[in-house]
Amino acid sequence: MNSVTVRVPAKVNLQLAVGPLRDDGYHDLVNVFHAVSIFDEVTATAETGMSVRVEGESADQVPEDAGNLAIQAALALARHAGRSYGVSLVIRKAIPVAGGMAGGSADAAAALVACNELWGLGLPVEDLMEIAADLGSDVPFALLGGTAVGTGRGERLTPLEVGGRFHWVFALADGGLSTARVYAECDRMREATGEEIVWPRAADPLLAALRRGDAKALGSELANDLQPAAVMLRRSLARTLEAGREQGAVGTLVSGSGPTCAFLAESETHADELALSLKAAGVARDVITAYGPVPGPTVV
Ligand code: C5P
Repeated sequence: MNSVTVRVPAKVNLQLAVGPLRDDGYHDLVNVFHAVSIFDEVTATAETGMSVRVEGESADQVPEDAGNLAIQAALALARHAGRSYGVSLVIRKAIPVAGGMAGGSADAAAALVACNELWGLGLPVEDLMEIAADLGSDVPFALLGGTAVGTGRGERLTPLEVGGRFHWVFALADGGLSTARVYAECDRMREATGEEIVWPRAADPLLAALRRGDAKALGSELANDLQPAAVMLRRSLARTLEAGREQGAVGTLVSGSGPTCAFLAESETHADELALSLKAAGVARDVITAYGPVPGPTVV
């Protein structure tokens, strides 16, 4: 086999409950991940060295050197296998870069799956999960897909039952936000207000809404503890979120650490209408529709 292409979805967080800051610089979380139908594609081709090229949506903002998480994933997999393999990776991006939709993590997960296949390693998903957790907190979920609750720093996953398909509208912003900066701002704001930091737990009504496939109920349960920090760092997001509420979204929140905003619709038609209204309101660089949950990385 000379070349393997893997398609991998973006995620939105349905509940992101941020607990105390740990000694290792991470926060204990409850993170309800939901994979949605915005896909990057990663093609791995046999090569003597290691290289990466990025094409598509905001490709110029993604590093094409050792800073690229997909290259780091390929290197970590080769190390795990105890051999020096080569690969040339081409990433075709549709997931917004630094947008709070785990695009970099998705590319890393896709690279693990593609190289495992290309190099004929046949490693089980448990091994890939271990490598994934070392690469970043969101990479294990990017390998899993569907809908799942993550604990620890987000890497310990339990898949969730979902009783239907949910329709989403995403408002993309100009430029990204650094995840580390948003967490640091969250800590700063909590300290300034003296907010009590409670141990995070998954919200039962949210899990029940997911099981029933009930968009209205899910919409009213969406919650993101990072949202105030993301809005503080990017004030224009307040207007984007408000526009979604005014236009009848059944749920509105910042996706992960932002700046992408996510709006839940009642149906596919409703999502299309909502997307048109948000485009007309001029509150985002671009507006796209998607549905979830979708499966994790798939070889195409
Ligand atoms: O795990 P990852 O490298 O993607 O995380 C990026 C940054 O996000 C971390 O350096 C940390 O500042 C923050 N983070 C956190 N708590 C988590 C996950 C991420 O503070 N559970």
